[in-house]
Amino acid sequence: MGLRVRASSLLLSLALELAVALVSVSAQQKFGINYGQIANDLPDPTRVAGLLQSMNVNKVKLYDADPRVLTAFANTGVEFIIAVGNENLQTMASNPAAARQWVATHVQPYIPATRITCVTVGNEVFSSNDTVMMSSLLPAMKAVYAALGGLGLGSQVTVSSAHSVNVLATSFPPSSGAFREELAEYIQPILDFHAQTGSPFLINAYPFFAYKGSPGTVSLPYVLFEPNPGVRDPNTNLSYDNMLYAQIDAVYAAMKAMGHTDVAVRISETGWPSKGDEDETGATVQNAAAYNGNLMQRIAMGQGTPLKPNVPIDVYVFALFNEDMKPGPTSERNYGLFYPNGSPVYAINSGGSGGSGGGFGPGGSLNPYYTSMFSSSSKSLVRTTFLTERVMLLLLLQAIVILLQS
Ligand SMILES: *[C@@H]1O[C@H](CO)[C@@H](O)[C@H](O)[C@H]1NC(C)=O
Ligand SMILES: *[C@@H]1O[C@H](CO)[C@@H](O)[C@H](O)[C@H]1NC(C)=O
Repeated sequence: MGLRVRASSLLLSLALELAVALVSVSAQQKFGINYGQIANDLPDPTRVAGLLQSMNVNKVKLYDADPRVLTAFANTGVEFIIAVGNENLQTMASNPAAARQWVATHVQPYIPATRITCVTVGNEVFSSNDTVMMSSLLPAMKAVYAALGGLGLGSQVTVSSAHSVNVLATSFPPSSGAFREELAEYIQPILDFHAQTGSPFLINAYPFFAYKGSPGTVSLPYVLFEPNPGVRDPNTNLSYDNMLYAQIDAVYAAMKAMGHTDVAVRISETGWPSKGDEDETGATVQNAAAYNGNLMQRIAMGQGTPLKPNVPIDVYVFALFNEDMKPGPTSERNYGLFYPNGSPVYAINSGGSGGSGGGFGPGGSLNPYYTSMFSSSSKSLVRTTFLTERVMLLLLLQAIVILLQS
């Protein structure tokens, strides 16, 4: 009897663990998108909600907390990351009431109809030379975290910050990933905060910049997720067939060197421009379509990196729209999957048989049937995986019931 009870409780806990793992896998199978609005010609957010639903996107990241967007997406089930801008960090760091005010205005009124799940505090703060802002980052994150807790939202909304991959001094081989030495004093306690609060470390990573910087030495297939021999990490013998995964694992190694194996890495931005200036090698429609299409296929497969094969990559593509008012080189205004009128910038084949079958074609408008992002084959892949998981779960639960009854 005792043995049977022990055996069944063991089986039950195994089943629960499996259920949690399966549910988190199926939750990861869609990709997120950055919804930037540095433009004067974007459609009304109410029309964007339909566009995203038709693309199978269920996660959106904003650079602010635009009330028009948060209202338009009420009751859509879409998950939101919203942002506290860099200009607010110093005030929030020195005055917790400012953080409480921000949360009371930008988060509380929209929950639960709009699913806000994360607040990023600051964007690429360590790419600046502003040491006051750098020192304000963690106190501001803590102030926002405390404000969320004070309003009873602490368990549903996490707090993070998005960092450029340039916070790394070394990123290859991935196993020798290390943060820039002069940032250690800031990053170490930020990692402690992530571990304590269970929030992820967010990285903006653009293999495009590496290719543009040295097109003669960086392999294009390697940065575009196309077939290539890959590169081996001599310390781990792990083989990398693309640069993004190598960068993610380099961040894991850098965190481990600071004593943290308990913080998840997510990609808060990545993408590829479809157009650039003459000196921006690689910024073409073909490369952008390949990068984003191949990436979406891997996301749909629930793939992990070589170091963390069982942790599906979690990615926010940059960006939803071309943004005409962004300063800088031409590429900056051409990262979008869509023109402001809702027509796709290029066709994406995000799975399946190649050629023109996938995704969407040129022209078109904000027509939800026209702009389906996934090709039918990758859609059915996702559905099949999901169904298989459900069937497995049901079988397991039945087995437990039988065991308990015997
Ligand atoms: C930071 O300072 C360095 C050296 O003084 C300079 O080269 C770089 O352009 C500065 N970066 C920013 C973002 O101001
Ligand atoms: C990597 O592979 C080489 C050659 O097969 C072997 O000698 C070495 O021990 C391996 N290293 C690790 C960390 O597995």
